[in-house]
Amino acid sequence: MESSQGHGEDEAKRETLAGTGSCQFCHLTVGVAVAIAALTLIAGLLLSFIVFVILTAAPEGSQTLKRELLEQLQQCQKQHRDVNLMLHTVTQDSRCSLCPEKWLWWMGRCYFFSVGLQENRRWNESAEFCRQYNSSLIVIEDSAEMDFIQEVMTKFPQIPFLWVGLTDAKQEGQWLWGDGRAVQHYMQVMVEWDADHRDCADLRGGASLFAADCEEYGPWACKKEY
Ligand SMILES: *[C@@H]1O[C@H](CO)[C@@H](O)[C@H](O)[C@H]1NC(C)=O
Ligand SMILES: *[C@@H]1O[C@H](CO)[C@@H](O)[C@H](O)[C@H]1NC(C)=O
Repeated sequence: MESSQGHGEDEAKRETLAGTGSCQFCHLTVGVAVAIAALTLIAGLLLSFIVFVILTAAPEGSQTLKRELLEQLQQCQKQHRDVNLMLHTVTQDSRCSLCPEKWLWWMGRCYFFSVGLQENRRWNESAEFCRQYNSSLIVIEDSAEMDFIQEVMTKFPQIPFLWVGLTDAKQEGQWLWGDGRAVQHYMQVMVEWDADHRDCADLRGGASLFAADCEEYGPWACKKEY
């Protein structure tokens, strides 16, 4: 968070502290919720067992007792559902997720889409942003990942394209992913419109990659392992 633009250093610090505090609180809450859920579950099972024993053993006449026990059992099942719902809500809290806030989790990795920042950057500045967050411009490793990214893009129509970690700046026409692998290493893709002054790849709808001028400003996406 050191030098993210548009944030004062103090503000960034406060954000970090608030984040950490909430997460500790959150983990505690999850712990308590899990304990409650486990207890409720055990109590519910015990009660069901007792009801079962009584119902099978009780003489025909004791209808009132049966009804009361059944009501208690239903009450207990309802509580169990409520606790489960609470547990689900608490664990869905983004502060407790494995990725930093505002990053998306997908298949064990964290993704950042700059669309929320309302800021466009040159390719090198986008790469620098990702580096600051210990990540890199996305390297798309298979078609499932491509589908995921395309899906995010369709949710944000204001993203006309995304800078990705693919460039031929070192040698014209030799497109390399950020990890040094050749463009065709992971999947069959082609960079269209290739030309001398277009050394950075942008990703568009339909999973197509276009060569663009690295000096253009645009949104970007970062990826990191957590
Ligand atoms: C990005 O490139 C521009 C010009 O090409 C340069 O002025 C700027 O310092 C570079 N920024 C970074 C973060 O490398
Ligand atoms: C990046 O990694 C370094 C070294 O592991 C760590 O000190 C720093 O806090 C990390 N920065 C972010 C934004 O996660």
